[in-house]
Amino acid sequence: MAIQRTFSILKPDVTRRNLTGAVNAKIEAAGLRIVAQKRVHMTRGQAETFYAVHKERPFFGELVDQMSAGPVVVQVLEGENAILKYREVMGATNPEKAEAGTIRKEFALNMGENSVHGSDAEETAAIEIAQWFAGNEIVG
Ligand code: CMP
Repeated sequence: MAIQRTFSILKPDVTRRNLTGAVNAKIEAAGLRIVAQKRVHMTRGQAETFYAVHKERPFFGELVDQMSAGPVVVQVLEGENAILKYREVMGATNPEKAEAGTIRKEFALNMGENSVHGSDAEETAAIEIAQWFAGNEIVG
């Protein structure tokens, strides 16, 4: 498997509880490199665009509220098989189902405030990265 890049968000529940460094430590311990990172406060419009794939789902309104409620940290992670590896490090979407040692098991509060987002495929990773970073902001 070649070196891949994936897009990550540390959600408002992480920044609110001052856990950015703790989550980043887990990412780096898994061998993923943080090759771009910035702290932003998403507008409702940005959250709606980012999660447009979920717009018909019943939780969409709450998701947009939560993602725009406070600062997030957007990141590009790089490494061998990075997309799948990060999803393993994150753990299941529902923290109650997440395995021991994963970010969501250790830090997530509930399904909505589940601490992190990670891309699910190469195509979505490319789209999500381009939404938040210019090419010259990513330094591998
Ligand atoms: P994320 O990986 O950011 O992608 C969509 C988000 O919607 C998900 O994490 C959860 O935080 C949130 N969400 C809330 N309810 C659900 C649900 N029932 N199924 C999937 N995602 C949900």
